[in-house]
Amino acid sequence: MRFALATVAIIWALFVLADGVDPGNFKTCEQSSFCRRSRKIQGSGSKYALIPGTLNTYADSLTADLVNKENHHQFAFKLEALVGSTFRLQIDEKQPLRPRYRVEHALKGPTQAGRIRVQRETDGEIVITSEKNKAVIHGDPFRIDFFENDVLVVSVNAKNWLYFEHLRQKAQEPTSHPAENENQQEQDAAVETPKAADTIDDPGAWEENFKSHHDSKPYGPEAVALDFSFPAAKVLFGIPEHADSFILKSTSGTDPYRLYNLDVFEYVVDSKMALYGSVPVIYGHGAQRTAGVYWQNAAETWVDIQTSETNVVSSLVNFVSGSQKTPPPAAHFMSESGIVDAFIMLGPKPMDTFKQYAALTGTHELPQLFALAYHQSRWNYNDERDVTSVSAKFDEYNIPMDTMWLDIEHTDGKRYFTWDKFKFPHPLAMIKNLTELGRHLVVIVDPHIKRDNNYFFHRDCTDRGYYVKTREGNDYEGWCWPGAASYPDFFNPVVREYYASQYALDKFQTVTADVMLWNDMNEPSVFNGPEITAPKDLIHYGNWEHRDVHNLYGHMHLMGSFAGLQQRDPNQRPFILTRAHFAGSQRYAAIWTGDNFADWSHLQHSVKMCLTEAVAGFSFCGADVGAFFGNPDTELLERWYQTGAFLPFFRAHAHIDTKRREPWLFPERTRQVIQNAVIKRYSYLPLWYTAFYELELTGEPVIRPLLAQYPLDKEAFGVDNQLLVQDRLLVRPVMQQGVSKVDVYFPAIDDKKNGDWWYDVDTYQRQERSGYVSVPVDDFKIPVWQRGGSIVPKKERQRRASTLMLHDPYTLIICLDRQGKASGSLYLDDEKSYAYRQGQRIHVNYEFAHDQLVNSFVGKPKYKTLAWIERIVIAGLEKVPSSASITVNGVSQQLEVLHHDNTVVVRKPGVKMDVDFAIKLNFA
Ligand code: NOJ
Repeated sequence: MRFALATVAIIWALFVLADGVDPGNFKTCEQSSFCRRSRKIQGSGSKYALIPGTLNTYADSLTADLVNKENHHQFAFKLEALVGSTFRLQIDEKQPLRPRYRVEHALKGPTQAGRIRVQRETDGEIVITSEKNKAVIHGDPFRIDFFENDVLVVSVNAKNWLYFEHLRQKAQEPTSHPAENENQQEQDAAVETPKAADTIDDPGAWEENFKSHHDSKPYGPEAVALDFSFPAAKVLFGIPEHADSFILKSTSGTDPYRLYNLDVFEYVVDSKMALYGSVPVIYGHGAQRTAGVYWQNAAETWVDIQTSETNVVSSLVNFVSGSQKTPPPAAHFMSESGIVDAFIMLGPKPMDTFKQYAALTGTHELPQLFALAYHQSRWNYNDERDVTSVSAKFDEYNIPMDTMWLDIEHTDGKRYFTWDKFKFPHPLAMIKNLTELGRHLVVIVDPHIKRDNNYFFHRDCTDRGYYVKTREGNDYEGWCWPGAASYPDFFNPVVREYYASQYALDKFQTVTADVMLWNDMNEPSVFNGPEITAPKDLIHYGNWEHRDVHNLYGHMHLMGSFAGLQQRDPNQRPFILTRAHFAGSQRYAAIWTGDNFADWSHLQHSVKMCLTEAVAGFSFCGADVGAFFGNPDTELLERWYQTGAFLPFFRAHAHIDTKRREPWLFPERTRQVIQNAVIKRYSYLPLWYTAFYELELTGEPVIRPLLAQYPLDKEAFGVDNQLLVQDRLLVRPVMQQGVSKVDVYFPAIDDKKNGDWWYDVDTYQRQERSGYVSVPVDDFKIPVWQRGGSIVPKKERQRRASTLMLHDPYTLIICLDRQGKASGSLYLDDEKSYAYRQGQRIHVNYEFAHDQLVNSFVGKPKYKTLAWIERIVIAGLEKVPSSASITVNGVSQQLEVLHHDNTVVVRKPGVKMDVDFAIKLNFA
């Protein structure tokens, strides 16, 4: 017991006292045996070839055998066309000693087969077409070139860095896994013993140590690696989660980017180190073409990046040889185990490519509106009184707030699904108090389970064998917040079902169906594990090693949670926040960027990181406002609120040891700046809500980097201190200290530097040219522009919570383009249930042209609402109208028009949201 307490104390000190992550606690590529081996290939290249005469073609795919010409090991190769300009490439061993892991549950469902046509087949080359795309498969050396409309966009294995370690018997000492059955052993015996050339000469091939941790590696080396070049691209981006720039940097001379879900507290920025989530999708973008690759592998993965701009060696070679040619940007994916399973998405535009990825892994479903509003969290709100009084203070100070959050201290000794009876004796009354005010509560439920025989959850998991196992078949025991803890094996569907059932209100009786969920520490975090996570030789359901599935653990946790909330109340959309994530987790949860620090660079990285997450499927992203660690000064806090107000997930959160930082604890001016930012967020909720509906519908990210909408503008590629909300707002938060102006980049729509018009949303002053503009800012200023040519819906009546705005009237902001036109959509429904999927919704397009605004509904407007249009603001008119008239059902009526500095306001059209109308401006 004393030892246990001492360990907890050490761990606690590690987390609380350290002033930044110690990178030494995490592996470098050189310290990771498979990364070291896979990377070595870059020096020599490998030799793989298709075996002549093994080709088979089908309606949607072709298969062939592939051989490693050095050790003669054979592989099964498959190339499949999918609808929507996507190919899937799979390579597995033809006869592996044991099956190799294939990722499950990341794709949103079965893929949709396309059709292929064999255009040409010669000895060394097969050309197939599918839709307007073409794949040229070269036999020896093995390589595939993918063309979109005859332009080469992705080359696979152009560098010959394919590296596939087949499973092999351990020399002298054949291993047998306790869980392996007799058949498997017979099969093993039937396989030829390896030839000398077949051994892998690396000290970490069959077992590996890192710090005090030992990885038994019973199956030995089994890495897979492959290179992808993007000949039509100038830049690469994607592969979150890293605290780095949006555009990926060259890894020449540095470690590769690492994808391995880890609990890295107070992470460093400008770093390729792994963080909490791993989304192995990468995009290559050039002015004419965008393409992407989704590398579907859940094992630890490192990605080397080669970019033309930063490759010094190639520049030198070119200089000496007089060549203009720099190699195209390329990515080398290296995973510890599994198979090659890569989706090649051929674009051609950025948004096409993002949608192709969404077609594979899905989108976040439309959240309840409250989830898009402001969240108030800290580790921890101490007790019921604290919660109630913080909520009341928001009202006292007139700051809208929707959701209070409770961190781990609300539980009885970190036993999830329970409450601390002293601090929270009446949870239901406390929850009612919040919900009566229109607010919500979110509680944390982590995956580590306290090993306490008096805890029902632990007893159930122990008795029923639900925990992740050690190699010896025992329940794995690690350390986390509760002390000794075990980890449910969410890969087992029965465990997920059990877990989901715990959320039912007859089980979890101390919450209501309005209480939502925060899944933290689900990398999983294990304080005394290697790299603060689970050992790789643990065993999961289906006999898979943790090594094979590590990056999916959090995802499987989320599947259980999401099912739990859906079953608890089938007609309420779940809200879950998760820290760990993998490709496809966006279907279940929002994410935040974890344990950031209160300095300006972390604020800046919140935008970069969320932009990268958004193009990798996670539009619902935010960062701890004010930062998790440290105590922000008033200026940083103010700017953080202003930035957070324009990121999709908007939550203030702080470490238990930080000073309290609710807005009223600061000088009045700071409070006002914060209030202003929050009110602004609420006024734009109709836009956020519409954008999330349209994300569910189309897969188009809610927030976007400039290049998504302005693909031709090379200067815009690297701009990652600005973001777009759909194609309607351009946001350039102030993220530097002590500035009175910021440089804003207005993107060009063509290569002649023509730009859109942009209207400052506070003053409606117009920017008419593209390029950098220096814009003055005061403490209150959030530099945001609305694009000329767009219409943005807003709600401008202030309420304490978004749920109370349901029937409030709308304002439409119309910003005209050079032709005097604008258009934009609005989506509305009950903001809570799934009735919208049965048609209870209104999705409407507004068009302004020739001085007239008309609406047109997408489908029938079936949702019944009391809301109406209260105000129409028009910016960019050449003349001032004297009046306006509205026509509904053939009946016209005059409307009052007011003229302000840069706008015209049409007052009280009064028209309901589900009615067809036309509003015409009249000029005397
Ligand atoms: C780590 C999370 O990142 C942080 O947000 C949370 O407050 C602590 N765990 C305690 O639950």
